[in-house]
Amino acid sequence: MSLNKIANKLSPSILSADFSQLGNNIKELENAGADELHIDVMDGTFVPSISFGMPLISSIRKITSMPFDVHLMVNEPGRYIEDFAKCGADNITIHAECCTHLNRVLTQIKELGIRASVALNPATSLNVLDYVLNYVDMVLIMTVNPGFGGQQYIEESTEKIKTLRERLNILGKDIDIQVDGGINDTTLPIVLDAGANVVVAGTSVFNGSIKENVKKIKSVLK
Ligand code: DX5
Ligand code: ZN
Repeated sequence: MSLNKIANKLSPSILSADFSQLGNNIKELENAGADELHIDVMDGTFVPSISFGMPLISSIRKITSMPFDVHLMVNEPGRYIEDFAKCGADNITIHAECCTHLNRVLTQIKELGIRASVALNPATSLNVLDYVLNYVDMVLIMTVNPGFGGQQYIEESTEKIKTLRERLNILGKDIDIQVDGGINDTTLPIVLDAGANVVVAGTSVFNGSIKENVKKIKSVLK
């Protein structure tokens, strides 16, 4: 059971949006009470797929005041931090697996005045966080292998979330734990109970009525 008192948030992933209706979809999310937008940037190298980049982020920045949570699934993300900050990112998440100088890039993000977060793939140990926790606002525990929406939650993630929340509590650190991948009616209570407080959801937000789905998830997060 988590001891954390930090706020629960819903971060819908626009990867599952209808891109021909992206502006409208974002307005619906905002009106329904989504807390922020999760924006998945994929480079076709770190992950198999390619999604979208700076021009898309800059244009949606003009139509919403929701915070932008940018998840970079990109090799050596340090090359692009300034670009994504300029596009309007409020948080930038980088993967520990593809960032040679993790400390340097986290510092680079913080120096730009935005939130810095580290993502871990399902097979990556929590130990990579040991010497960077002072620079981190959020840890993203990937609950699927990154690269695609609509995958199944990986069971071992639950223990990993629990262990991380326990370690953070012992250290007295109010760091957000975000989960991403396969979050639905069944897995949502499991991740919350384990100690996650920021929930990314793609399929379970965009499949059907955005308004109803956001309201339903938010009612569980209260
Ligand atoms: C996967 C992405 C996720 C994805 C989640 O690599 O990081 O954000 O959009 O999609 P669902 O909620 O459908 O698993
Ligand atoms: Zn993501």
